[in-house]
Amino acid sequence: MEILEAIRTMRVIRRFSPEPIPAELLDTIIRAGRHAGSSKNLQRWAFIVVHDRSTLERLSKVGAFAGHVAGATVAIALVTPAVGPNDPWSIMWDLGRTAQNMTLAAWSLGIGSVPATVYDQPLARSILGYPEDHWCEYILSLGYPADPSDLTRSPKAGGRRPLDEMLHDERW
Ligand SMILES: Cc1cc2nc3c(=O)[nH]c(=O)nc-3n(C[C@H](O)[C@H](O)[C@H](O)COP(=O)(O)O)c2cc1C
Repeated sequence: MEILEAIRTMRVIRRFSPEPIPAELLDTIIRAGRHAGSSKNLQRWAFIVVHDRSTLERLSKVGAFAGHVAGATVAIALVTPAVGPNDPWSIMWDLGRTAQNMTLAAWSLGIGSVPATVYDQPLARSILGYPEDHWCEYILSLGYPADPSDLTRSPKAGGRRPLDEMLHDERW
């Protein structure tokens, strides 16, 4: 799939089919994340790959909108060093880039994804075992869509703000 087509067509997928993701495709997705550039090339990320159904079900309780993790074929927890309020925002940019690489790579392979925002950090930490000085803000659910037509679903009307609402010419 052309990159511009993938960017234009990608939607989140929250319901997944039981079809397994072949190991080589999962590897391709994870390596796409690894390739992301990052501030000072610090690569402040680690990925915890979860297949175990009972762990996925437990992870689906870490956030108010994390229910989809229970039905994911695989989840990838995105872990970074913990940052404080005075730290630069670059880690957010970096994590967004690695996540977008993974989700676009997945989409180009016909595999859907959706993030889950982690609200209960102690619960996520107890399930996943990452150290106290690390943080998991997002978990990606991945899988083939339960409804394959979701791969070609057109954006809902109003799904994105009009360009002229966000675009400024020369000055705000
Ligand atoms: C930073 C971020 C956090 C998100 N957290 C959740 C979440 O916790 N649960 C969820 O179901 N979707 C989550 N989403 C998915 C958004 O709801 C979704 O991208 C948005 O509604 C647009 O959907 P579309 O890409 O299918 O048009 C998150 C997206 C982003 C970028």
